[in-house]
Amino acid sequence: MQKESILITGANGQIGTVLSEKLIDLYGFDNVLTTDIGHIDNIHGKFEILDIMDLKHFQELITKNKITQIYHLASLLSAKGEKDPMFTWNINLNGLLNVLNIAKDNKIKKIFFPSSIAVFGDSTPKVNTPQDVPLVPDTVYGIGKVTGELWCNYYSKRYGLDIRSLRYPGIIGYQSLPGGGTTDYAVDIFHKAVKHEKFNCFLKKDTMMPMMFMDDAIHATIMIMTAPEQNIRLRYGYNIAAFSFTPEDIYLEIKKYYPDFKIEYNPDFRQNIADSWVKSINDSKARKDWGWEPEYTFEQMVESMINHLRILYKKEEHTLL
Ligand code: SER
Repeated sequence: MQKESILITGANGQIGTVLSEKLIDLYGFDNVLTTDIGHIDNIHGKFEILDIMDLKHFQELITKNKITQIYHLASLLSAKGEKDPMFTWNINLNGLLNVLNIAKDNKIKKIFFPSSIAVFGDSTPKVNTPQDVPLVPDTVYGIGKVTGELWCNYYSKRYGLDIRSLRYPGIIGYQSLPGGGTTDYAVDIFHKAVKHEKFNCFLKKDTMMPMMFMDDAIHATIMIMTAPEQNIRLRYGYNIAAFSFTPEDIYLEIKKYYPDFKIEYNPDFRQNIADSWVKSINDSKARKDWGWEPEYTFEQMVESMINHLRILYKKEEHTLL
């Protein structure tokens, strides 16, 4: 059997950092090439700088490392993407098309494309949102994810590429920091609480969004990528869900650990983005097709975040002393 050789783009990002470590655990140090546009200091694998718009270099890396699978995580997130829509479109959509064309030309066996709850928009039903619904997003990031899903579906049907995709909810992890997203507040709030600082929230207290613990997001990614091919019935993003909460819900749960913790609400432009998304997700197709099930409840996620961040900040304190 041919051994797998995996290339991951955007390996320095919030999910990429954790997924890279998991892939190295599963496939071995020598079989995972982590790449990003900038230097990586938090991944301990093989690393190459890669700008996904540089097709020549991309092709060289694929050939040199005999790549058989690509996890394509490089992209700009929802809030940051709004600062320069044309630049975001170029990186997020044309970057994906580069990956798909490289995959087609090099007979890459499997490709992973992360989609997002950002595909949803005002005309999408907001509660228990089904898999197939109107998708008219308000952000350029969301437009890139909808069209990205459609291109994945097209390349899969037209060229037989084995592409697998998930619509991630907001991801909460202690291992890495998000950057430029609308769900980022739900990670930042933990760092502030553990450091005994006040939290300034950029959303209103009752803004409900679907979220998931990082460990479950990684588990879902590995599950869909290792599922038998005949179980993958959708070649665009599968809905996956764990729990939903508001800033006030998470604040009150964290307060159980830090009774003096303070929050202030100062909604900014990200409020409109959050309002255009949905409140909860129906993921029955993922459950039925490839056995998806989340492990962590909201309360377990909060407990794990606090425990891990306490250790992290203790270590930092010791290093500084
Ligand atoms: N977490 C992302 C964001 O907030 C959505 O996929 O942009």
